[in-house]
Amino acid sequence: MIPQIFIDELLSRVDIVDVVEQFVPLKRSGVNLSACCPFHEEKTPSFTVSQQKQFYHCFGCGAHGSAISFLMEQQGLGFIDAVENLAARAGIAVPRDQRKDNDEQRKDSQEYFLSTSRAASHYKRCLKDAPGAINYLKARGIEGSVAAKFLVGYASENWQELKNEFTDYDDSTALLEAGLVNEKDGRRYDRFRDRIIFPIRDSRGRVIAFGGRVIDKGEPKYLNSPETPFFHKGKEVYGFWESRRSIRKEQRILVVEGYMDVVALHQSGITYSVATLGTAVTEFQVARLLKQCSDLIFCFDGDLAGRKAALRALESSLGQVQDGSKVSFLFLPDGEDPDSFVRAQGREIFERNIAEAVPMSDFLINDLTRQSGNLDSVEGKSRLASLFKPVVARVNAPMIRKLLIEKVSALTGLVAFDLGDVPQVRTSQSFRRAPNVQGSERSRATSAPSVLKHLIQMLIVFPELARSADSAHLLNVRPSLQRRFAASEFDLLSELLELAVKQLNQSQIIERFRGSVFDEAVLKASSLAHTRYQQGSIDFNLVKEEYAQAWDQLNRLTRLNLQKELLSNRTISSLTEEDKARYRSLTQLQTDPNSD
Ligand code: UTP
Ligand code: MN
Repeated sequence: MIPQIFIDELLSRVDIVDVVEQFVPLKRSGVNLSACCPFHEEKTPSFTVSQQKQFYHCFGCGAHGSAISFLMEQQGLGFIDAVENLAARAGIAVPRDQRKDNDEQRKDSQEYFLSTSRAASHYKRCLKDAPGAINYLKARGIEGSVAAKFLVGYASENWQELKNEFTDYDDSTALLEAGLVNEKDGRRYDRFRDRIIFPIRDSRGRVIAFGGRVIDKGEPKYLNSPETPFFHKGKEVYGFWESRRSIRKEQRILVVEGYMDVVALHQSGITYSVATLGTAVTEFQVARLLKQCSDLIFCFDGDLAGRKAALRALESSLGQVQDGSKVSFLFLPDGEDPDSFVRAQGREIFERNIAEAVPMSDFLINDLTRQSGNLDSVEGKSRLASLFKPVVARVNAPMIRKLLIEKVSALTGLVAFDLGDVPQVRTSQSFRRAPNVQGSERSRATSAPSVLKHLIQMLIVFPELARSADSAHLLNVRPSLQRRFAASEFDLLSELLELAVKQLNQSQIIERFRGSVFDEAVLKASSLAHTRYQQGSIDFNLVKEEYAQAWDQLNRLTRLNLQKELLSNRTISSLTEEDKARYRSLTQLQTDPNSD
């Protein structure tokens, strides 16, 4: 593992301005430097670099991060390679510390990612010496640059190829955990042999698993990594990292089934395509993709299996679509898959087909109608209605639901009420937060988390805030709030406070969270906060005031919660004397902000 303290040190030694300037000419504008963004096309500069915070942020496309992320994005490097590159620049060596970390989880994750990333680099190097594999890729139309973008590699026929890369091959737990080796009778051997290797990266570019294709014939055609602590097939999508810039730019995602489909689509210029990993599309995946943009197109083979896969994707989308988002389905001619189709027809024709993809609502109603038989008969109509009711109940988007009901109402002559247009009961688990309706019960119930988010955002951009005394409040609010709301935001806030008190800057803080469970949340908060506070110059005194107010608000909420808990279904007069006293003291605290 690379000790975290080394990353802190590294980030304080190199200047992000020098790193960025090597690729992009920067101009001073106010306290920051700016340029046209290297990650999306633009004419007026919206890419900014803060020397003080050692951070870059693009107000146009949201690209955002430290010097390490910049190299990863700009140069397509893995984390380790980016760190090595920066260290070389700073003239220091990267220590590989075996020291125990008090955070075992994080240590494990670092070793895991170190192993997967080294294995990917190793396989990539092996490809250069494997003419058979290269020819295979060439024959499938894949050029070197696209293969490199996807870190495509080759695992040799050797049973212990990875021994050449890992001196601790025989006792590394990470190798075993990542499923890169199997163990039998006390001997280890490689999982992937004589296969083209497609590393699977998570949303931050770290290699988490692999898919391996046989060259020509053999079974299974694709061998994947097993489920591991850091790889869950139903949660990941292949190609997301490689597509992220296009997704931001094009605001749509094409979802296909196979590794080769994704690679071939990128080769043809359709660079916003991702794949599920040999499993049916899950709700989790849909939710995750819909967070990136509101336009999803599922594209499946034209055969029966493709149709089945589409129905599964439909199932997983019903509860996740929101009003304003668009999910559609593109069916290819029988016998074609996205890979063969795009290679034969090219990008333009493929995209013309995307434009004509079938909207989810039509796909759903057509499918139900087909199952219902003759819609001129009473039986057909009632069949349609009964198939439709449980399905539409799962749609959480109020307008989409209403419009679907209207459609089926027109087909059957039944009024909306009979089709289940009753006050909404959320029957399917939604991974997305319900929209906040101002003044509704829901918005009141979620206001504590939103204060928390606010505090988290401020602390990331202005860690110096933590040095004010107010932060001590966290200790007071924690237990009661934790009971009532998701714990994770508190954990994040308190970790953040700890780091901020240590005087780390924004880029060091973000890097501390890389690989932790808060990784994505932190990055998102950081990006939001940047947009909120860094556009134009901001008066730090105002931020300080805002910070103090947020803490007050959080404390007030906590006390209200404590009172509510105390009362839970009782009246004040029925409380014990002790509880009454507690209740009163909470009320007093609320009106007297200086009492603690
Ligand atoms: P396909 O069989 O449609 O393969 O499987 P493909 O993508 O067209 O592959 P090529 O073109 O023959 O190379 C679609 C996806 O299902 C998963 C893989 O993710 C594959 O990309 N799969 C398939 C497996 O995981 N294992 C298998 O044995 C086959
Ligand atoms: Mn194929």
